[in-house]
Amino acid sequence: MSESRQSQNPPQDLILGIESSCDETAAAVVAGGKTILSSVVASQIDIHRKYGGVVPELASREHLRRIVPVVREAASQAGIALRDVSAVAVTRGPGLVGSLIVGVTYGKALAMSLGKPLIPVNHLEGHVHAVLLEAQAAGRAPQFPAVCLIVSGGHTILYRVIREAAGEHCNGNTIRGDSAPLHYGRIGGTRDDAAGEAYDKVAKMLALGYPGGPIIDQLAAFGDPDAVRFATTKIRGNAYDFSFSGIKTAVFYLLRKHPELQGEINDRGAALARGERSAQALKPLCSKTTLDLVASFQRAVVDDLLRRTMAAAEEFKAESVLVSGGVAANRALRTEFEKAAAKTGISVYFPSRALSTDNAAMIAAAAYPRFLAGEAAEVTLNAEPNLPLA
Ligand code: KG4
Ligand code: ZN
Repeated sequence: MSESRQSQNPPQDLILGIESSCDETAAAVVAGGKTILSSVVASQIDIHRKYGGVVPELASREHLRRIVPVVREAASQAGIALRDVSAVAVTRGPGLVGSLIVGVTYGKALAMSLGKPLIPVNHLEGHVHAVLLEAQAAGRAPQFPAVCLIVSGGHTILYRVIREAAGEHCNGNTIRGDSAPLHYGRIGGTRDDAAGEAYDKVAKMLALGYPGGPIIDQLAAFGDPDAVRFATTKIRGNAYDFSFSGIKTAVFYLLRKHPELQGEINDRGAALARGERSAQALKPLCSKTTLDLVASFQRAVVDDLLRRTMAAAEEFKAESVLVSGGVAANRALRTEFEKAAAKTGISVYFPSRALSTDNAAMIAAAAYPRFLAGEAAEVTLNAEPNLPLA
């Protein structure tokens, strides 16, 4: 009820978000930090598929081609003119430098021509806000402190997140509870591959197509997750660091031990070349050994993500666990985290599957508390491919 009153009077600030850090060109309009009026994502998967991964030069060229129509589409779907926005938010990093530069340059030019502030956003903070955005809109805002796992093709990283107390910004604006700034502390992260990268590389070895996560997610349901035991990687120094290259290498050696699987790998490669990429098309071309292998691989990855994240949540006395990024779309991962939530009493939050992968609504939402605090970038703003969150 208070939602509809808010949206009529007073008018809510509209933030235009722009995201181009990897292989998705995205733009979105978000009202009042939590109502998505539009979210347009132009995926480049079809372009990168034949290389089995993102090719940076092709990605930047495609961002250049798509960014103007994507922003126009976001404004049109939101039913606004670009001059109606209160600010332009853009992903500053981390990501591929050539891809980021397209968004940052375009965002700067657009903000300047509209005479609106430009708010630079850390892509990782965007993933945190993907969770908060929907939870708040559903009236189920997470409690802080929280532990956040960001798990995608480029990142596997754990943060401790606290929310600033309500009060007054230096610009005189009042900080309200759910739009108060967040503060992050890095707890751990991957020492080698990101979890999504491991999914993609294993899928490539098994000729299951690109990206690997969604197809392995579906095929794993038909295999025995206990069939292959992958040794947990021992990590010295920080119990909250991850390592996935060992599991990937173990899959490689397992395939060498099973030369009889080469025939079906070739058959799946031929099916993919014909454009037959669905789980329905590929499953009949998978032996029980392969289905067991993907189920066991997924079990090993999900168990590791779950174990370290929940241990961190307990150590840091988190009220909530937030899980975001492309791999957060994984069904087994969601089920396991939900089971752990029921057991420990710590609430677990995921974005919808659409907001798990890269999008610009999360960038606009992350910019909102900064907009309220009066933060804006100088015209000298640059893309920062290695920008840390903490
Ligand atoms: O967040 P995202 O769109 O882009 C990056 O910032 O990387 O995540 C893409 C990654 C890919 O590695 C993809 O294989 C993985 O997320 N992914 C999944 C699933 N859907 C996407 N991994 C496991 N299960 C899924 N359902
Ligand atoms: Zn991402």
